[in-house]
Amino acid sequence: MILRLFAALLTCGFATIAFAQQGVGWKTGPEAAAIERKVDALIGKMTLEEKVGQLHLSGRGEGFDINQVKAGRMGAVMNFVVPQEVRQVQEAVRQSRLKIPLIIGLDAVHGFSTYFPLPLGQAASWNPQLIEQAAYWTGREASAAGINWTFAPMVDMSRDPRWGRVLEGAGEDVHLASVVAAARTSGYQRGGVAASVKHFVGYGAGEAGRDYNSTWIPLSQLHDLHLPPFKAAFQAGAMTAMAAFNALNSMPATAHRGMLTDLLRGKWGFRGFVTSDFGSITELRLHGIAKDDAEAARKALLAGIDMDMMGDVFHKHLANEVKAGRVPVKALDEAVRRVLRVKYHLGLFERGDVDVAAAPSLMQTEEARKVARQAAREGVILLKNDKATLPIAPSVKSVAVIGAMAVPEDERVWTDPAGLGRRLVQPLPDALREQLPADVTVAYEPAFTRNCGTEFKDKEAAVKAAAAVDLVVAMLGEDCEFMGEGASRTDLGLPGVQQELLGALVETGKPVVLVLATGRPLVLTWADKHVAAIVQTFHGGTEGRAAIAEVLAGKVNPAGRVPMSFPRSVGQIPVYYDQLPTGRPQKIRQRYESIFMDEANEALYPFGFGLSYSRFTYANPRVSREKVAMDGAVEIAVEVTNRSERDGQEVAQLYVRQPVAERSRPLRQLKGFEKVFLKAGETKTVTFRLEAGTLGAHDDAGRYRIDPGLVEVYLGGSSLAEAKTRFELTKP
Ligand code: NOJ
Repeated sequence: MILRLFAALLTCGFATIAFAQQGVGWKTGPEAAAIERKVDALIGKMTLEEKVGQLHLSGRGEGFDINQVKAGRMGAVMNFVVPQEVRQVQEAVRQSRLKIPLIIGLDAVHGFSTYFPLPLGQAASWNPQLIEQAAYWTGREASAAGINWTFAPMVDMSRDPRWGRVLEGAGEDVHLASVVAAARTSGYQRGGVAASVKHFVGYGAGEAGRDYNSTWIPLSQLHDLHLPPFKAAFQAGAMTAMAAFNALNSMPATAHRGMLTDLLRGKWGFRGFVTSDFGSITELRLHGIAKDDAEAARKALLAGIDMDMMGDVFHKHLANEVKAGRVPVKALDEAVRRVLRVKYHLGLFERGDVDVAAAPSLMQTEEARKVARQAAREGVILLKNDKATLPIAPSVKSVAVIGAMAVPEDERVWTDPAGLGRRLVQPLPDALREQLPADVTVAYEPAFTRNCGTEFKDKEAAVKAAAAVDLVVAMLGEDCEFMGEGASRTDLGLPGVQQELLGALVETGKPVVLVLATGRPLVLTWADKHVAAIVQTFHGGTEGRAAIAEVLAGKVNPAGRVPMSFPRSVGQIPVYYDQLPTGRPQKIRQRYESIFMDEANEALYPFGFGLSYSRFTYANPRVSREKVAMDGAVEIAVEVTNRSERDGQEVAQLYVRQPVAERSRPLRQLKGFEKVFLKAGETKTVTFRLEAGTLGAHDDAGRYRIDPGLVEVYLGGSSLAEAKTRFELTKP
C-alpha cells in the first residue's frame, strides 16, 4: 500500500517542480548487474589500505586530514555544509589513485536551508504526501550544496517523552511511523540524497528515557513495534542504515550480528551499507564487549557494520586485523562492496562537483518555503479551545505576545547552516499584525533573556503588558538545550521560569492562549486547567511562526493531530493508546484495579486527538463483507460530516481490536487514516481497505501469526473513536 502510494506520487504529483533534480535510488535489471561487475572490477584493483579507506568516515573540523582523501584512505565525509569546502574535498579525490568519489553526509533532519517542522511535528500533520515533499526539498537543497547522503529518517519508536530524541521520530504508533518512514525516505532520495534509516535498532526504548541507555525488548515487541518502520523505509528504497548506540537485550547494536546480518541482510535482503553511529565502534569497549579498539573494530565488522563514523577505529586497526588473519579478506571485501555499490547506484561516479555558483539560488526557493508553510500549518495541533477563544474574535482589539520564543533568536533571523545567506524568519508579533485586522494592536514582551526561558529579563513588563490587553498569547516551550540528543528530562514541565510566568499571566484574569513550541509532549495538566486555549507545535521551522499566526487569526483551520500521547504526569509514563488489556481493567476506580491511586490512567491528550474550528461527526460505519478470509481484504467505509460553518480538514482514523486471539491483542490499533477536506456542511464517505494479513502479531519466537475470530473496528477523529462496526476473520 505504501509502495503504491509513492509510486503514484512519483508519476503524477509533482509536475510543477521548477528545477529538475535527478532523484537517487536502487537501479534494477541490467544496470544493477553492470554495477556489480564494476564493483568487482574496482575491488580487484584496490590495495588493503584503499579498501579500509572506503569504510572510514571522517568529519569536518579539528583532526580532519584531507591528505587521507588524497591517499585514497577515506571513503566518506560528514558535516561539510559550505559548497566551497565540499568542492575542496571533491578536488582532493581526484588526486587519489583510484579517484573513488566520496559519499558526503549530513544530518539534514528537518531541512537544510529551508526548515520544516521537527519530524514529530511533521508526523502531527498526518499527511504523508506533505511529509514526502518536506524531505524532498531538504534533499534537494542539501544536494545542491554537494551533499549526497543524509543521516535520516530516524524511525526509532518511542513511548517515552523523557527521551530528548522523540522529536526526530514520528510518535508512538507503528502504523503512522511506518507510513512516515516510507514518505521521508522517498522524499530524501527523490531530492537527491541517499537516506540512512536509523538507529538500528531499539534506540528509542532506552530505559527511563535516558539517552544511550540499554534497552530490553521482547522479540514479539521488536517485530511488532520497532522493526516495521525500518522495513517500510527499506521497502521505500532506503540505501543505507545506521546502527544504534544502545545495547539491545545486552548485545550492543553496533555488534549485533543477529540484527545486522541475519535479519537485515539475510531475511530482508538489504543490499546497501550500514554505518556505525558516531564513535559507536570504539564504544564497544565501554559496553564491555571488547578489550581494545582492535577487537571493537573486528567485532563490529564481523557483525555487519560497514563504515566507521568518526571512530578512527577501522582506519587504525582493520588492515592489521586482516593481515593477522583475524578478519577474513572476504568479510572486508563484502563491506567495501556494499559501500561501492551504493556509490554506483547513487551515480556518484558520473556526478560532477558541486556547482558552487549555483548553490545559493537553489536555497529557500518559493516552492520550498511554500511546502514549509503548509507543513507548519498542518503540524499545528489545537489541544484546547475553551469558549471558542480561537480564532481570535473580532471583539479582540489588543493582543500581547509574551515570551522570547515568539521572536527567533539571533537578531530575528535564522542562521543558515550552509553559509548560503541569511533569510528572514517572521517573528510571531509581526506575523500576527499581518493576519489581524489593522485596528488590532499587537504588543510584544520577551519576558526572558533567551528562548529557553531559563531566566527573566523583565517579568513585570510582561505581566503589565498582559494586563493591558484583551487577549494574551504566550509562546513558551522547550528550546535547543532542552530537547534533542542528550537531552533526556525527568521533569516534563515548562523549563526554567516559564511556568512562573504562565501563572502570573493567568492571574491577570485575561484569557491566555498558550502557544507551545517543544520537542516532545510536555505535561500540560496545569495549563489545561488554567489557560483558555492551547496550541501545540513541535518547532515549526522557517515558516513556523507565520503559520501559527494564521491559525490564531483563523486564516487556517488547525488540523494537526497528536502523534504521541501527552501524559498527565511523568509517573504515568509510558502512556500510549495501544496498550494490552489487563485482567483488572479500570471500571469504578477502586483498589485492585489496574489504576494509579493519585492519577487517571488516560493520557491528557490521547493519540490521534486534535481540535478544529470545525466540528466533525461520523456516521454509518460499515464493512464490505462480514466474513473476511485471513488472506483476504475488507473495505470499511464511514461518512464524515463537517457540522460547522467553516471549511476544515479532518483526520479520519481507523482502529481495530481483536478481543479474543491466541495471545492478548492491544485494546486498539491504528490500521488506516486519511486526511479529508470538508467544506462547511459537507459529508464525504471515507473508505479504507484493510488487508487481513496486517491483523496478526508476532510471538515470543518472532513468528508472525494471524488468528481467526471477531475483529472490532472503530472509526473516528482520535484513538477514542466511537463509530463501530465489526467483521469475522475466518480461516481461508
Ligand atoms: C549521533 C546521532 O545519534 C546520529 O543520529 C547522528 O546522525 C550522528 N551523531 C551524526 O551527527
